[in-house]
Amino acid sequence: MQIAISSASIKNWEGDILIIGLLENELKTQLEIIDKRFDSSLENLLKKQEFSAKKDDIVSFTLLNESPEKLIMVGLGNTEDISINSIRSVISKAATKTIGTNGKIGIYIPWNLVEEGSAVEAIVESIRLSLFKDIRFMSNPESHKKPSELELIGINLDVEDILKKANKTCLGVELARELVGAPPNELTPTILAKNAEIISQNKNFELKILDRSDCNNLNMGAYLAVSQGSDLEPKFIHLTYRPKNPIKKTIALIGKGLTFDSGGYNLKVGAAQIDLMKFDMGGSAAVLGTARAIAEIQPPNIEIHFIVAACENMVNGSAVHPGDIVKASNKKTIEINNTDAEGRLTLADALVYASKLKPDAIVDLATLTGACVVALGDEIAGLWTDNDELSESISKAANRAGEGIWRMPMHQPYKDGLKSILADLKNTGPRPAGSITAALFLKEFVDPSIPWAHIDIAGPVWSEKGTGDAPAGATGYGVKTLVNWVCDYQN
Ligand code: BES
Ligand code: MN
Ligand code: ZN
Repeated sequence: MQIAISSASIKNWEGDILIIGLLENELKTQLEIIDKRFDSSLENLLKKQEFSAKKDDIVSFTLLNESPEKLIMVGLGNTEDISINSIRSVISKAATKTIGTNGKIGIYIPWNLVEEGSAVEAIVESIRLSLFKDIRFMSNPESHKKPSELELIGINLDVEDILKKANKTCLGVELARELVGAPPNELTPTILAKNAEIISQNKNFELKILDRSDCNNLNMGAYLAVSQGSDLEPKFIHLTYRPKNPIKKTIALIGKGLTFDSGGYNLKVGAAQIDLMKFDMGGSAAVLGTARAIAEIQPPNIEIHFIVAACENMVNGSAVHPGDIVKASNKKTIEINNTDAEGRLTLADALVYASKLKPDAIVDLATLTGACVVALGDEIAGLWTDNDELSESISKAANRAGEGIWRMPMHQPYKDGLKSILADLKNTGPRPAGSITAALFLKEFVDPSIPWAHIDIAGPVWSEKGTGDAPAGATGYGVKTLVNWVCDYQN
């Protein structure tokens, strides 16, 4: 889809579908202006549909023999409650009403009432991402006609750079959705590594893939234990972005990369939805999606390490037994009292590896615990960090991205739940506060002098019905947040 900015007014814009944002408290005056364009009186039409421009109200009309042929009116609420996130949500809804047309759509909202740049970013992302459809696995995809052109109309400021950045970010979100959506027979650790290799062909990238023996040499006993019950080779992915400019900040982004999580001998049964566990590489998808966007954006002064300890959690004769004791690369010993708490074992060695790079900050994303879904549902990720500044900057980035996040307590006393009789620690504690003990487990593998945040995306990685700008399925959660955070962090 081609996306452009235009200074055309509603009165003289040419195209096929026009989306107009209306305010509850300004409806009458806005309609008077719009009415001048059309033969019909919109006021009466809208009254009949009981449209009063309340937040999230939406109504569409097909206009016969007129251009544009379709009008979609969306409510933005009152002037004082207008927010970037309400724009995201209503524009996403409007976008789905444009499916079926190949033409050109125009969007007008009262730009003077919002920060224009953020609104442009939000609208471009909402439209493009709401219209995303994954047809890779259909032999005869029903035609998914979508608009070929989008024009944001009535804008006089120069927001070209923002528009470009939003488009680049969308590329990353789309890649993340494709990676998460791909089934586990297609998306193996090797294929995940292949995706990293494709990204590494961009300017300023470098790639290192460690295989089983490399990881063995680094004593990654926790990660390798998880992979040992699978026929597929583990791949430890280390992708680096290093621009040829003075580097002001170095960061590491780590993503959990379980291409399938059967639970191991603590097999997932009952309500655990084992068939969805292809999405257990959602953290790595967010990280590689971010790399994809960064390859386009090329932020000038930041070095970024993208790290994924990819593997599968399966069962065979060599799989980990519940009760095995393994040693991670920082020499800590772990009693694996539950093979289904595998993500933290892979992350343990990834966090040790990242710490050795001495970055200014480490952020990990992981579909780590069902407990986090119980606590926050499927629209909000959990955020754990001891660092207030990091918490603040990540929350701000997520908020601007329209991605839900909530800081959770790193409650140290709960670490007692991880005490093992034989080893330094167990990999799981008691059921209550399971997402907190998971975060406390991870903390054992991070250099305490490096600011670190952990984001549990077990809920928002996937949406059964679709939410915000995400159609049903993989959401691509995390890419927008990370891109915002990285671009802010370099300054
Ligand atoms: N990948 C799962 C977490 C998960 C569960 C994500 C449900 C999304 C939906 C993780 O590896 C896991 O199995 N965690 C266990 C931990 C438990 C054994 C302490 C869980 O949450 O049940
Ligand atoms: Mn598991
Ligand atoms: Zn898992």
